[in-house]
Amino acid sequence: MSQKQQHKPVMLDEAIEGLQIKPNGIYVDGTFGRGGHSRAILSELSESGELLAFDKDPTAVTAGREALGDDSRFRLIPGSFTQLMTVASELNWVGKIDGILLDLGVSSPQLDEAERGFSFLRDGPLDMRMDPTQSRDAFSWLDRAPVDEIALVLREYGEERYAKRIARAIVNARQETPITRTKQLADIVTEANPNWERHKHPATRAFQAIRIFINQELEELRAVLEQCLDVLTLGGFLVVISFHSLEDRIVKRFMQRHANGVQLPVSVPVTKDEMHMRLRRVGRAFKAGEEEVRTNPRSRSAIMRIGEKIG
Ligand SMILES: C[S@@+](CC[C@H](N)C(=O)[O-])C[C@H]1O[C@@H](n2cnc3c(N)ncnc32)[C@H](O)[C@@H]1O
Repeated sequence: MSQKQQHKPVMLDEAIEGLQIKPNGIYVDGTFGRGGHSRAILSELSESGELLAFDKDPTAVTAGREALGDDSRFRLIPGSFTQLMTVASELNWVGKIDGILLDLGVSSPQLDEAERGFSFLRDGPLDMRMDPTQSRDAFSWLDRAPVDEIALVLREYGEERYAKRIARAIVNARQETPITRTKQLADIVTEANPNWERHKHPATRAFQAIRIFINQELEELRAVLEQCLDVLTLGGFLVVISFHSLEDRIVKRFMQRHANGVQLPVSVPVTKDEMHMRLRRVGRAFKAGEEEVRTNPRSRSAIMRIGEKIG
C-alpha cells in the first residue's frame, strides 16, 4: 500500500479491548477501510477464529483482498454493512457472533484522494460517493435539488445555522454555471456563510451534510445497529466509534433504549425479564487519549461506545 493509501486506525487498543476477543470467536468489522482494526482482530484470533468484514468502497475491498486475501479466517464483503443479517444468516452465524466493530465515516484515503470528491481542501469532481457504483453523486443531487431540500440537508446533517442562506447561494450559483468541482462548492459556501467558526473551514458543515446525505450514513447506521443486536451471541460485544454528534446520538439512544428495556409506569410491577433489557452498557463514552490526539488529528472527534448483549 502506498503512503497515500494509508489510514491510521483510531482508538485501536481501546476498540480491541472493548471487543474482549476470544481466540476461537467469530467477529465482524463492518467498516474495513484499510484494515487497521481487522488486522488487530486477526492477530488475537487462533486458527479457528473467523472475521467477516464489509466495506462499500471498492478500493477498500481491493486493498483488503490484496493484503489479507490469503488468510482463510478472513472474508471481505463488498457493499454496505446493512447486509450483516443476510450474510450472517447465509453463514449460519445468527446469534453466534462474539463481537462487532463499526468505525464510522470516511477513511483517510477517501479524503486524501481529490478524485473521490470528498474534500473542500483538495479540488476534485463533486462526487462524495463511498460506493461509486451508486447512481446519485453530490453533483447530480445538488444540480437539481430544490432550495428547500438543500437547506433541509444542510440543517439536518450539518447542523448548519445558515442552511437557508447557503442553499440559496448554491441554487443561484448553479443557474450561472453547473457546480461540478469541490473547490467551486467550497468557495460558494464560504462566501455565503457569515459565521466562520474558529478552527473550522466555513464549508466543513455543508460538506459533512452532503456526504452524510449522499451515502445515507445515518439511515444505514440505524438499520445496522438493530441487526447487530440480533446477530450477536449472549455476552457478545458491540463497539462503535463515531465522529460527529449526529452519529453518536443515534448510537447513544440505541444503547440507552436497549439497556433500559421496555419503559412502563413505576406502578406496573415487572420483573427484569419482562423488561426485555437486551444490552449492558460498558462504560459511557470513551475518547481518544492525549497522545493519540496529538499524533492522529482524526481521533480528536472520535467517541467510542460499547455494549454487551445480555438478552
Ligand atoms: C473510518 S473508515 C474505517 C477504517 C478502518 N477501521 C481502518 O482501520 O482502516 C470507514 C470505512 O467504512 C466504510 N463505510 C462507511 N459506511 C459504510 C457502510 N454503511 N457499509 C460499509 N462500509 C462503510 C467507508 O467506505 C470506509 O472505508
